Amino acid sequence: MQTNLRGRDLIGDLDFSKEEVETVLDVAFDLKRKRALGEPHAYLRDKVLAMLFFFSSTRTRGSFEAGIAQLGGHGAFIESNTTQIKHGDTAKEIGEIYGRYFDGLAIRHCDWQVGNQYINEVAKYSRSPVLNMQCDIYHPFQCLADLMTIIEKKGRDLRRKRIVVSWAYAASYLKPISVPQSLILQMPRFGMDVVLAYPKGFELMPEIEAEAAAQARKFGVGFDIVHDMDEAFRDADVIYAKSWGPLLTTTDPVEGKRLQDANQSWITDARRMALAKPDAIYMHPLPADRDIEVTSEVMDGPNSVVYDQAENRLHAQKAVMALTMC
Ligand code: CP
Repeated sequence: MQTNLRGRDLIGDLDFSKEEVETVLDVAFDLKRKRALGEPHAYLRDKVLAMLFFFSSTRTRGSFEAGIAQLGGHGAFIESNTTQIKHGDTAKEIGEIYGRYFDGLAIRHCDWQVGNQYINEVAKYSRSPVLNMQCDIYHPFQCLADLMTIIEKKGRDLRRKRIVVSWAYAASYLKPISVPQSLILQMPRFGMDVVLAYPKGFELMPEIEAEAAAQARKFGVGFDIVHDMDEAFRDADVIYAKSWGPLLTTTDPVEGKRLQDANQSWITDARRMALAKPDAIYMHPLPADRDIEVTSEVMDGPNSVVYDQAENRLHAQKAVMALTMC
């Protein structure tokens, strides 16, 4: 167990070592138990977290705000359009100034080729820890909650369990690529064989795919990329199928939509779930395009763990806040 996380940022999934992530999980399970028993756990009394959003949210906002309150602190919700950022406050100003007001700065900024750079720039000037609530490259807190959920359903020993991280068709908008990127980076460290599936044109960042392959080699697990959803689902233990935009191919929304629409058959339905192991779990970070990305039959079915997964955002985030902001 590595307990020296005080003051640390969490921006990329590999910022914390495997042992440090194990510590986060231990604390998260303890906090989940404490909440279930109604045991007080006000480890961050009088601490204040700034939650700066450049992008909408249901779960991330709710779980960070509830989490910091349950830890005895306060969360300040700050929508970027209500600040002076558009009138000149730079990332340096936010880091320097908010880093002095607040005990932690959590930021969501998903703009392609902007968000991660912005969060790192704030962190450079902040004296308080900076937590990435999702950027264009990573969604580390989603991934911690996902890992926690997989452990709950499949046990601590995930060695040789097969997780499929698959693209799925969506009609609503071109979704960020951060969730699949975080998953392929983190899961090999915990012994899972990773299968990444997407139609041509929906590649992830080459440096992230290369790093995921390197992690897989280091931890002696598989990392395969396939372009057929049925092939990917065969014998899987965990199905994690969600949409993302073809951002490495085009940033033009019209061309992006055209590419998405050419792959409408990429849906998680009962037929495809039957290709996986009978006890395979279905995961999605939400929001999902119901009956487009995934049928309601699967999403509301016995193999779906999407609500436990959403709940675990709360516990995983409380663990990181308690460890970094104390
Ligand atoms: N999964 C997730 O990050 O949800 P929100 O976009 O609602 O925060």
